[in-house]
Amino acid sequence: MTSILILNGPNLNLLGTRQPEVYGHVTLTDIAEMCRAHAAAHDLEILFEQSNHEGQLIDHIHAARGRDLGIVLNAGAYTHTSVALRDAISSVELPVVEVHLSNIHAREPFRHLSHIAPVALGQIAGFGAKGYLLAIDALLDHTRGAE
Ligand code: DQA
Repeated sequence: MTSILILNGPNLNLLGTRQPEVYGHVTLTDIAEMCRAHAAAHDLEILFEQSNHEGQLIDHIHAARGRDLGIVLNAGAYTHTSVALRDAISSVELPVVEVHLSNIHAREPFRHLSHIAPVALGQIAGFGAKGYLLAIDALLDHTRGAE
């Protein structure tokens, strides 16, 4: 069975209680379950990870090389700051779909810049947890369309 990595950055472990007016009440565990249920219909395995540490996120991206079809990445605040994450994505040459629960373009100006976007297939932002499912579909369309 093929697999994809769904990788979550800092503070996303607090979803459910973190600023629910921005991020809603869904927890990261709920999102993982939604993704697994969605993927089952596509004969796809989901590897679901979260870390608050930039280097650990980079290690997860490296580990995906040669193992996974691609990556769904919500890098949290590292989206706006991390050249190292961007370089990791460029290095592994895997398709990446960038996801954000909130619409980062409708928020503070510092969230409008994404270091991930130029090396991603595309970005999905503002649709809450549903964005992860849209990202899985986009990744599958891209990779299976290319087979
Ligand atoms: C986020 C948006 C980021 O700006 C923020 O730092 C997050 C979550 C989102 O999913 O909307 O941690 O990536």
